[in-house]
Amino acid sequence: MKLAERMSRLGTETAFEVLVRARALEAKGRDIIHLEIGEPDFDTPRHIVEAGKEALDKGFTHYGPTQGLPELRETIAEYVSRTRGISAGAANVCVVPGGKPIIFFPLLALLEPGDEAIYPNPGFPIYESMINFLGATPVPMPLVEERGFSFDLNLLEKKLTPRTKLLIINSPQNPTGGVIPRDDIRAIADLVRNRDLVVLSDEIYSRMYFDEPPASITQYPGMLEKTIILDGFSKTYAMTGWRMGYGVMPKWLVEPVNKLMVNSNSCTATFTQRAGIAALKGPQDDVDKMVQAFRERRDAFCSALNQLPGFRCRMPNGAFYAFPNITGTGYSSKELSEGLLNEAGVACLSGTAFGDFGEGYLRFSIANSLENLMKAVGRIRTFLEARKTVPAGA
Ligand SMILES: Cc1ncc(COP(=O)(O)O)c(C=O)c1O
Repeated sequence: MKLAERMSRLGTETAFEVLVRARALEAKGRDIIHLEIGEPDFDTPRHIVEAGKEALDKGFTHYGPTQGLPELRETIAEYVSRTRGISAGAANVCVVPGGKPIIFFPLLALLEPGDEAIYPNPGFPIYESMINFLGATPVPMPLVEERGFSFDLNLLEKKLTPRTKLLIINSPQNPTGGVIPRDDIRAIADLVRNRDLVVLSDEIYSRMYFDEPPASITQYPGMLEKTIILDGFSKTYAMTGWRMGYGVMPKWLVEPVNKLMVNSNSCTATFTQRAGIAALKGPQDDVDKMVQAFRERRDAFCSALNQLPGFRCRMPNGAFYAFPNITGTGYSSKELSEGLLNEAGVACLSGTAFGDFGEGYLRFSIANSLENLMKAVGRIRTFLEARKTVPAGA
């Protein structure tokens, strides 16, 4: 059977493929250090799990409203308004199964052939995948290492055209760990304020920062009306498997997103939504502890990476990834990530898994113990030293 042509344009998220390959090597007896997948290595905090169990016992096992339980939407509206310094209401909130549907649904509702969509590259691969899938024109914005992996604002200005319908920004960022400086966010707002476009602001790592808190573009005048905030529970509360996220968006976008939800999921699981209320209203010390652990690992791991021959690693300011420049090794990103997986037992991702502009980089998730992270650096060093002469063009 021939698949629909559009399927050939749909991309993927390589992290899941590398995880499968790493597990297959483990099944053959190999010892692999997993630094490929982007999920916290912490358990969901106890009080959130208890709230989920209690909800099951109380019968939250039925369909719920498509847009999300009103109490959760109220709680999210209050949380997002407080953390971003904006005024969003429950009517602006759509609760969906994970953060990803807030890429899938709004892009499906907005983009068609002829539209241009600007997105970060390297960036979360689902942006480019969905833009291509919908037949819109992908306009990659290279991230600049020297600017802490932020945009070149002059280039952004040049890439904005009357056809630009969507601008995607992501801060703190996957895969680079970059946080877009507040002044840049303000400048981006100034560039797009009077244009007929929508901004998708992916703020899924909003609580994971090590210096200044990241700014949301919605704080700037006129921007809340044209921005979709993507956030969720996966990263902040270590709830990746619960599948729950949300979008905060202008009301005119809520209805099409609801329609797409009715046509796909009907609603998000109701007992997980009760757990979500507990997550946002309950104690936040587990989040703080997790971020503190990521900070310690970041400091040690990135310093150690910087001692490796041919590696140069900026200190990420947020999220839980290290994104070293490896051009000095002479290997391409793909060659090095393959070599590290197959020969050194370190699973990581090639920068190109996040787009063409990721060439010359690797992504390591630091969601693993400090001991394993340091062991991984040792294995990488052994790998590099054993092959000092191999790389072509080094
Ligand atoms: C930048 C970014 N956005 C969105 C998501 C999707 O999150 P979820 O697992 O809640 O769908 C991820 C997950 O890795 C991410 O890194």
